[in-house]
Amino acid sequence: MRIDVLTIFPDLIEHYAASAMVGRARAAGVLDLRVHDLRSFAPGPHRSVDDSPFGGGAGMVLAPGPIVATVDAVQPCRPIFLLSPGGRRVDQQVVEELAALGPPAGEGLSLLCGRYEGVDQRIADHVVDGELSIGDLVLAGGELAALVVVEAVTRLLPGALGNEGSAADESFTEGLLEYPQYTRPAVFEGWAVPSVLLSGDHGRVARWRRAMALRRTMVRRPDLIAARGGLSADEQALVDEILAAEAAEAAEAAEAAEAAKREEGLRAAEAAEGRQAAPTGAAVPLADVPAVGARRGPRPSPG
Ligand SMILES: C[S@@+](CC[C@H](N)C(=O)[O-])C[C@H]1O[C@@H](n2cnc3c(N)ncnc32)[C@H](O)[C@@H]1O
Repeated sequence: MRIDVLTIFPDLIEHYAASAMVGRARAAGVLDLRVHDLRSFAPGPHRSVDDSPFGGGAGMVLAPGPIVATVDAVQPCRPIFLLSPGGRRVDQQVVEELAALGPPAGEGLSLLCGRYEGVDQRIADHVVDGELSIGDLVLAGGELAALVVVEAVTRLLPGALGNEGSAADESFTEGLLEYPQYTRPAVFEGWAVPSVLLSGDHGRVARWRRAMALRRTMVRRPDLIAARGGLSADEQALVDEILAAEAAEAAEAAEAAEAAKREEGLRAAEAAEGRQAAPTGAAVPLADVPAVGARRGPRPSPG
């Protein structure tokens, strides 16, 4: 897929796009990223791209001349999108639409980065095909916003990711947030991963992940759940089942921790009486192990 970026800071784009996933996609020919310097097409010895706003006011405005000259000279891919806080909000659905502008349906798209106080309105009215915003916030320029779009689109292109499943099994692809992820070690600073993930039972793991994705989305993004018409009866039953199992497991762990504490108290009393010394390197009492998901607290004593 071809993506043209028009900017007065081409180095910002080139630098980021040289590494990691986007860099690999370029090297592999999956992404044909072309960066164009608007200054190269600006008139005069100073290659000035901006001017003060008509009507007065602070700052400068990117002038239409260099932008149109660049578009005429490099013939960037259509559609061209201007990055703008007032544009269409980019979300994963928009990213999928943008990725679909590449082969086989089309060649790709272009991104025009504003700077200063923005871009002369006539560019938005007569030159570009649409406007994109990465959120209700104001950046100093469109370059970071363009890179957000480039990266999000690129990871959807076939061959861009090492693991093709990665892009399909992700937050927002099914209108849900992703389930929590864990890696080794199984217990880190006393925080254990959910035991189901160590069970080796792929069916149970899949059900747990689904339930966690549903629950996390219900708690954090009820708007996404509402947008998909709520939970089905099966989904609600799955969430209830997994939550009940988690509660039972937590109660069991708490009971075991209580027992361990009582045992330790007994041993300490015995040691105090000088009848038996406490074993060195004793395990951290389970009671000191914070629940999964608990905020980082003081590190448990090594025992
Ligand atoms: C300082 S901003 C201009 C803000 C403009 N004066 C306004 O109030 O809407 C300069 C450039 O940064 C880019 N930009 C800033 N925030 C953005 C956002 N949320 N999404 C996309 N582009 C953004 C646009 O290209 C914009 O022309």
